[in-house]
Amino acid sequence: MSWPAPQIPPELITPQSARGTTDDFIRAIAVGTDFDGRTVLDGIDLAIRRGEVFVIMGPSGCGKTTMLRHLCGLNRPTTGSVFVDGQDIFALPEAELQKLRLRTGLSFQGGALLGSLSVLDNVALPLRENTELDDELIRDIARMKLEMVGLLHACDLLPANLSGGMKKRAAIARAIVLDPDIIFFDEPSAGLDPVTAAEVDNLICKLNQVFGITMVVVTHDLPSAQCIADRVAVFFDGRVAALGEKEDVWTSHDPRIRDFIERRMREADERTIDVAEFIAI
Ligand SMILES: Nc1ncnc2c1ncn2[C@@H]1O[C@H](COP(=O)(O)OP(=O)(O)OP(=O)(O)O)[C@@H](O)[C@H]1O
Ligand SMILES: [Mg+2]
Repeated sequence: MSWPAPQIPPELITPQSARGTTDDFIRAIAVGTDFDGRTVLDGIDLAIRRGEVFVIMGPSGCGKTTMLRHLCGLNRPTTGSVFVDGQDIFALPEAELQKLRLRTGLSFQGGALLGSLSVLDNVALPLRENTELDDELIRDIARMKLEMVGLLHACDLLPANLSGGMKKRAAIARAIVLDPDIIFFDEPSAGLDPVTAAEVDNLICKLNQVFGITMVVVTHDLPSAQCIADRVAVFFDGRVAALGEKEDVWTSHDPRIRDFIERRMREADERTIDVAEFIAI
């Protein structure tokens, strides 16, 4: 079992300590968040390694989405900061932060596809907004990304005509269209049946293994975390309660973690039984 490093007092944070090991791609140091005087995150330290799939779990409302929004630079934390490649992203000039955002893919729950655009045009949008490429080339790149997620046949459809799993895959195609170094996912398998969720998990693993894209994934789904994670952090009460290789986290002796994992296992078993009954009918 590996536990989180002790919280680093802000006065000890230096550019050197922020840089971490050479494998660290993203480092959160003493990240704290208050909303309306209520502490949601309480001095989180995390290091995400280049090329890994890092999963964040924890009970509803424990601050997972809030943390993800800090890690990808969308929201500045109340205290502490986030370093990418050793650079404090919240100290960067806006133009530099924008460059960093172009290296980042986002697949958020609310980040829906635009309903009035075809799947192809949705995927092409980041290229149209951020590059000067010729439109024919843009369409070719978008088609290539759709092929990578197995959705080329649906390129002319509108989002309303896609299944839940197809929508997720289209959103992933859009997230990879600028060839990002890292992708942040918020609940990628939420609302999907276990079979479709497993397809999305396989796609995440493939993108990680084939293209070496670093992945930070928030999920409440234990089978999904089991399938995709290299390492897992479990948040409780605004702090990191467990952090390490997934096998170590699953077998933690911390009663809060044990209780959390057992509940998630029961939920996963119930869903599997539902599917088995459905198939049997
Ligand atoms: N912009 C905001 N203003 C005020 N409170 C917020 C804001 N964003 C989040 N919160 C609160 O912070 C807490 C953590 O929210 P967050 O969305 O990060 O939780 P979560 O772990 O992602 O939960 P879930 O598993 O349900 O998605 C919640 O109590 C939420 O109401
Ligand atoms: Mg959330």
